Amino acid sequence: MQITLLVGTVFGNARQIAQTLALAAPDYGASAQVLDMQDQTIAVFDTPGFLVLCCSTTGQGDVPDNAQGLYQSLEAQARYLGHVRYGLVALGDSSYGDTFYGGAKAFQNRLQDLGAQLVGEVCILDALAADGPDAVALAWFASWAEQARSLDTSASSPT
Ligand SMILES: Cc1cc2nc3c(=O)[nH]c(=O)nc-3n(C[C@H](O)[C@H](O)[C@H](O)COP(=O)(O)O)c2cc1C
Repeated sequence: MQITLLVGTVFGNARQIAQTLALAAPDYGASAQVLDMQDQTIAVFDTPGFLVLCCSTTGQGDVPDNAQGLYQSLEAQARYLGHVRYGLVALGDSSYGDTFYGGAKAFQNRLQDLGAQLVGEVCILDALAADGPDAVALAWFASWAEQARSLDTSASSPT
């Protein structure tokens, strides 16, 4: 099972989480690569395997600058993404109220409109939470990877 972790970040927290998950991937029989959203287009969603978007929020519920191009490409070059199965790690700060994890939500909404399938629950990492984000993300990843594996048609099946 292949996993591509796509990073949208301002200060690097989302990248750190993605790297933590990539290191854990072999524990679940997966290989992982971490890609920055910068310079990516909708074409990245054709990468074989599963995608995990790790995206923070800036401004008032906005996607980070390095994610803007990809986000806009999902509209400007919109096409059906029914082949896409992805996970979502949403970084934010609940003190922002209504715009809490708005950046990740924006991606989720656009991907839903294009027919992409969200696997599992969204992993919400609140900067105000007492638990460290790495531990929360790793706990989420354990169940996410299991769900992804059950959907993985590239795995060899008994004949
Ligand atoms: C200028 C600024 C604006 C922010 N706006 C929001 C927001 O609207 N909603 C939210 O949930 N978090 C917001 N945050 C919190 C960040 O998303 C959070 O700190 C996150 O962990 C940053 O991750 P990153 O280093 O990957 O960018 C904001 C942070 C800053 C510095």
